[in-house]
Amino acid sequence: MRIRTHRCGELTKSHVGQQVVLNGWVQRRRNHGTVLFIDLRDRTGLTQVVCNAERNATVHQVAQTLRSECVVSVSGQVMARPEESRNSTLPTGDIEIFVDGIDILNEAKTPPFVIEDDTEITEALRLKYRYLDLRRPRMQRLLGLRHGIMQAVRAFLNGEQFLEVETPVLTKSTPEGARDYLVPSRVNSGMFYALPQSPQLFKQVLMVSGVDRYYQIARCFRDEDLRHDRQPEFTQIDLEMSFVDREQVMSLMERMIVSVFKAAGGVQLPVPFPRMTYAETLGRYGSDKPDLRFGMPLHDVMAFAAKSEFKVFKEVATNGGIVKALIVSGGASMARSRIDALGETAKSFGAKGLAWLKITAEGQLESVIAKYLDAQAFAASLPEAKPGDLVLFGADKPGVVHDVLGRIRLQLGEELKLIDKTAWKPLWVTEFPLLDYSPEEKRYIFMHNPFAAPMDEDLSFLDAEPLKARAKAYDMVLNGSEIGGGSIRNHRSDIQFRILDLLGIDKEQAQAKFGFLLEALDYGAPPHGGIAFGLDRIIMLLGCADSIRDVIAFPKTQRAQCPLTEAPSSVSADQLKELRIKLDLVE
Ligand code: AMO
Ligand code: AMP
Repeated sequence: MRIRTHRCGELTKSHVGQQVVLNGWVQRRRNHGTVLFIDLRDRTGLTQVVCNAERNATVHQVAQTLRSECVVSVSGQVMARPEESRNSTLPTGDIEIFVDGIDILNEAKTPPFVIEDDTEITEALRLKYRYLDLRRPRMQRLLGLRHGIMQAVRAFLNGEQFLEVETPVLTKSTPEGARDYLVPSRVNSGMFYALPQSPQLFKQVLMVSGVDRYYQIARCFRDEDLRHDRQPEFTQIDLEMSFVDREQVMSLMERMIVSVFKAAGGVQLPVPFPRMTYAETLGRYGSDKPDLRFGMPLHDVMAFAAKSEFKVFKEVATNGGIVKALIVSGGASMARSRIDALGETAKSFGAKGLAWLKITAEGQLESVIAKYLDAQAFAASLPEAKPGDLVLFGADKPGVVHDVLGRIRLQLGEELKLIDKTAWKPLWVTEFPLLDYSPEEKRYIFMHNPFAAPMDEDLSFLDAEPLKARAKAYDMVLNGSEIGGGSIRNHRSDIQFRILDLLGIDKEQAQAKFGFLLEALDYGAPPHGGIAFGLDRIIMLLGCADSIRDVIAFPKTQRAQCPLTEAPSSVSADQLKELRIKLDLVE
């Protein structure tokens, strides 16, 4: 094999005249009789190589046998392309190689799809032939971006005295709210390891160990319903720090994210990141991860609604519900069918309906419910709504109204192209409630994880009104995506036990689940806190990828399967026997 002197994306006019060797894959072959053009590809790009029968008959002969994706090595001279055949869209478009020698290093079967960015391929095929899919320039760019982000994270944290520590994958369950993946132990028959949902417990233990500043680019495993931004196996940039308060964690992490986006993506995020409390984001945008690239906030129209004659509004007002409105600027021109479709969408999100009204050019209200409403009272209660606008209403329990209008807002943002796709809108969300109440389970559940500390001023709520207690927790949101979340922890076991008790986890259960952490807290745990960022989500944002599967080399499908390896798969009876497992419940 001729060993390469250069990569396929490297050669420019400055190399003209040089003798070079390139190795790569045949992207395309164009036959012009005695002259044959080949685009040779590697990770760095394409170079045009010219096999001319008059210059070298053997080379021309071999080149005629080449098929797409054959692996070849060519040697030849770099020549300037004639003016008329320059390709300004290609970094190597000013030159071509006149080939004097060619070796076929390997043949290739006809690939099931063309290795180009803009081809229509089903995801199933892409994932089955992932090695071919990853050859495409876009996928190579995303792999490169992932690498760049990880390097930038390490560079930043090394400069801030963080220690990279690995934590076990075969371990005990970490309570992050999803189902565990379990691994049977052969040597301890009947016993199981749980794959970590995050390194949460270990990183807290590391603080007790005096590590002071820990980080890890950690794989996490969560058996949960998958979405476009969720994988069962994903990667966190996981951190923990000792002797810090919220402010220190948040300001250092803001600096880290700004530095990583700049170094890996050339993006300057606007600083300082704005901050909003959980209550504010929910009330204003119907979401704790609002997309701030467009406006269209939710407006509270309760005062107006309570006095109206519209039965739905009146009932909600007397039943402890709320009424909120979205203003669609210029939306009065929207066709009735489209508004009805929005109503159906709202119902699919859990609403009972989506009342609407149009404000005519003359300021009249136009709607099936207009007869119940007082135009003047409406104008006074919602001065932001102007003639020509459409107003949509949600009336229900606060949770339903916020969720439904928040999602309708996002859908309208996309449909009406209100979202500035070039903008970067980061945000810190703070003061999350410590607990939520699950009506199905009739008990309190944690909002973040059970280790988040309550705000000092809210400690007194823990006894009588625990839902009022806020946590020292924070999420980082970017363009409507939750990219990170963390908290200051309970470093004293008495408060930790108190919170576990509220969650219905008694001492015995706590001991069985994470007794080692609780015990460690009693051996001089320093005050500590941290955060974890979803690495895959950050790459999605920086790399403009719609699916989390595009930023992971070997991802799983929506059904948590890997089409390449065909995992998960059944195992032999012998393996099961060794593990003392009998599959008599499998359907
Ligand atoms: P949390 O559960 O919020 O916190 O996770 C942190 C971040 O990880 C990302 N993320 C995911 N990304 C892809 N697929 C998933 N299934 C998935 N689940 C979460 C999100 C999220 O913001 N131990 C705590 C952190 C801490 O308190 O320090 C934790 O894991 O971007
Ligand atoms: P109805 O009185 O059921 O015909 O409803 C009149 C309008 O109010 C329709 O546009 C419904 O979609 C809407 N509507 C009904 N219930 C609600 C609700 N809870 N919140 C918002 N709009 C509603």
